[in-house]
Amino acid sequence: MTDDIYAPEFVKGVFDRCSERYITFSWLCSFGFTERWRRQCVAAMPEPTGPAGYDLMAGTGEVWPHLLKRFPQIGQITAVDISSGMHHRAIDRLHRHRAQRIAFIEDDVFASNLPDASADFVIATFGLKTFDREQLAQFARLVARVLKPGGSFAMIEASDPKGWLLRPLYLFHLKTVLPLMERFLLRGAQDFAMIGRYSTNFGDARAFAEMLRSEHLDVRFDRYFFGCATGVSGRKPA
Ligand SMILES: C[S@@+](CC[C@H](N)C(=O)[O-])C[C@H]1O[C@@H](n2cnc3c(N)ncnc32)[C@H](O)[C@@H]1O
Repeated sequence: MTDDIYAPEFVKGVFDRCSERYITFSWLCSFGFTERWRRQCVAAMPEPTGPAGYDLMAGTGEVWPHLLKRFPQIGQITAVDISSGMHHRAIDRLHRHRAQRIAFIEDDVFASNLPDASADFVIATFGLKTFDREQLAQFARLVARVLKPGGSFAMIEASDPKGWLLRPLYLFHLKTVLPLMERFLLRGAQDFAMIGRYSTNFGDARAFAEMLRSEHLDVRFDRYFFGCATGVSGRKPA
């Protein structure tokens, strides 16, 4: 049974309310690491075998510059996001010069009818944390279903750096400093605090890597900066 905070409608509300300040928040929260992690996620993705793919839980499209820089042959990114706030914000700052290469679908990925074997690549940055275990398994099925044989994928998420010496300091930052910063500096404090809660609940992407393997994908698991982010990348066998 899906916990309420993981219900897509609830998640949509959180991101609709946060969208205005999401970019500043995610940058502040991570001391700029989110940008570096997006780039590393793209660097981990094996070369797509064709020009078209999906950015799932695309938000404001922060990963597109990295994606198009590394793979200039990409001709079409279809961005899927449930939040109209994030979606409109993405259009506003849509990197206008690349607008012709971006298509939007405003949709819940779990209700989406993206066609089978329709993507040369699938990317998702920081979109896994708002999924519970059952939804992650469903998402792994979706990725395996929409990828073409030989298609590549990469996903990254902020994670709990278990075993790291400075983990207590990191958790103090996440659980105490950030909520205070959010309360005093940012509007919609309770919504930003929810994002922190999703992140700590998520753990890391290791279990998700196994789910993708059970869908017969070839998967590599990576840790970034002592495990403060973890990611998966690989291919659907041709
Ligand atoms: C933390 S943001 C990540 C945005 C962006 N990819 C980035 O790199 O910053 C997570 C995004 O996932 C979207 N999202 C959450 N659940 C979703 C669902 N079930 N279907 C589609 N999008 C969803 C939210 O609306 C939000 O824009």
